[in-house]
Amino acid sequence: METAIEVESLYYPVSRQKMVRGEGIYLYDEDGNAYIDCASATFNLSLGYSHPVVLAAIRAQLDELIHITSSFRSDPVSALAERLLAVAPANMRKVHPKVCSGSSANEGAIKMAQYATGRSEIITLFRSHLGQTMMMTSLSGNAFRKAPFPLVYPGSLHVPDPYCKRCFYEKEPSSCGHLCVDRIEDFLEYASSGRVAAIIVEPISGNGGNIVPPDGYFPKLRAFCDKHEIVLIFDEIQTGIGRTGHIFAAQHFGVEPV
Ligand SMILES: Cc1ncc(COP(=O)(O)O)c(C=O)c1O
Repeated sequence: METAIEVESLYYPVSRQKMVRGEGIYLYDEDGNAYIDCASATFNLSLGYSHPVVLAAIRAQLDELIHITSSFRSDPVSALAERLLAVAPANMRKVHPKVCSGSSANEGAIKMAQYATGRSEIITLFRSHLGQTMMMTSLSGNAFRKAPFPLVYPGSLHVPDPYCKRCFYEKEPSSCGHLCVDRIEDFLEYASSGRVAAIIVEPISGNGGNIVPPDGYFPKLRAFCDKHEIVLIFDEIQTGIGRTGHIFAAQHFGVEPV
């Protein structure tokens, strides 16, 4: 593959190589060369490119109704809501399909947590990547994402990831007792505003380094959230829809968010 170059009409760097078609696991360039796309686009095409069932559904819907205000019921939205509820963790009883990006989904979940608790502050992990909007850039970890922008969401607190290979507390997973959860007590008591509404985590931090938390981390985090009446939000943008072997990674780790 050629290295990225700046193209004048775009804000971001793109490869000189032009892709013209996708089918299954393959992408095809304009010279007809086929490439296996090991990342399924940006990890978002769980069914691969141009799955015939997906294409047929899109084509059929185009002839019926391509947009409708959410004030009315419609079959595709109702069907999606029902299917999502059927596969979601058991405590999830409602869906909110009025979002079109991961960032707005996360912001919606945070608004729900703030509304339910009457509190405002949000805890996230050092290496989290939660989206590109102003609020999500601000809540995400990693200084490099924020450095170019003079933005700060005032109510956010970042805590160490469950990253055993580079443990912030220099412990071993066999004997640490999940110190990275216990220590959130200290952050809560000494570094927060005292008004924490939610902790938002990716069950497996994707862009942060595909960090799989050690066994027992999530049950302990769940118990921590219950104790402090803090909402536990899972950002499953990268882990959801079957990518960890379950529809949602929450099921993989045996915990329910909220
Ligand atoms: C884990 C995670 N959360 C949230 C987002 C934000 O999604 P979007 O770019 O659709 O706003 C992304 C992707 O950028 C992501 O990987």
